[in-house]
Amino acid sequence: MTQDDYIIQAENLHKTYRMGATRVPVLKGVNLAVRPGEFVAIIGASGSGKSTLMHILGALDRPDMGVVRFMGRDLSGFGPGELNRFRNRQVGFVFQFYHLLDELNVMENVYLPTMASTGLLGWLRRRCWARGRATELLVSMGLGERLRHKPYQLSGGERQRVAICRALMNEPAVVLADEPTGNLDSATGNGILEILEKLNRAGQTVVMVTHDDRIAARAGRVITLADGKMI
Ligand SMILES: Nc1ncnc2c1ncn2[C@@H]1O[C@H](COP(=O)(O)OP(=O)(O)O)[C@@H](O)[C@H]1O
Ligand SMILES: [Mg+2]
Repeated sequence: MTQDDYIIQAENLHKTYRMGATRVPVLKGVNLAVRPGEFVAIIGASGSGKSTLMHILGALDRPDMGVVRFMGRDLSGFGPGELNRFRNRQVGFVFQFYHLLDELNVMENVYLPTMASTGLLGWLRRRCWARGRATELLVSMGLGERLRHKPYQLSGGERQRVAICRALMNEPAVVLADEPTGNLDSATGNGILEILEKLNRAGQTVVMVTHDDRIAARAGRVITLADGKMI
């Protein structure tokens, strides 16, 4: 395969956090290549740098050294507007603690990425479509009766399903899930994994990080992050 055949490719990523005189080297030469339609799990102990890696893959953070390519294109060559579009449209983030906004209802949380990616005029033109898509996604996740509820009125599993809908809103090329079941009991976490599996069977590329072997085993491919490298 050539570089262009991968959705996401990371080469020799290095990242060190500096706090005063203290240096915490976290990534020490990470390589990773994800093909379209793959479900990849990255497993690593707590503190091994999984979230750091996900943030770099999704352009929420930059590596000190190394390259991330999206469909063959080096992210470091993207201008600010292009980077925002990449984060907003090509990547769908799912976090352990959902990161929903409690002031907004479920439907508004889901269409927020679309609102954020259009100007006012664009939003006026697209809001009908956006409401329709958000509703469709929420119904497909069994949340059709919850559209006007606030996140704090939902259970953990329901909140995570809302977060998955939000991640899917702009039809991202890749879903990046950072310990998506980490805050849930095992039955509820299982339901979330089933959703990710179903999305993947329908063609969605998924990269998930976890510290749990049993969860990682559900993915098509498992790679281990240890001592700052993939082993
Ligand atoms: N913003 C930061 N500043 C300083 N140290 C950080 C920062 N973020 C993470 N770290 C440290 O980097 C290491 C890896 O963190 P993280 O990527 O969150 O690991 P994981 O997600 O695998 O638990 C940890 O030792 C953590 O304390
Ligand atoms: Mg983490």
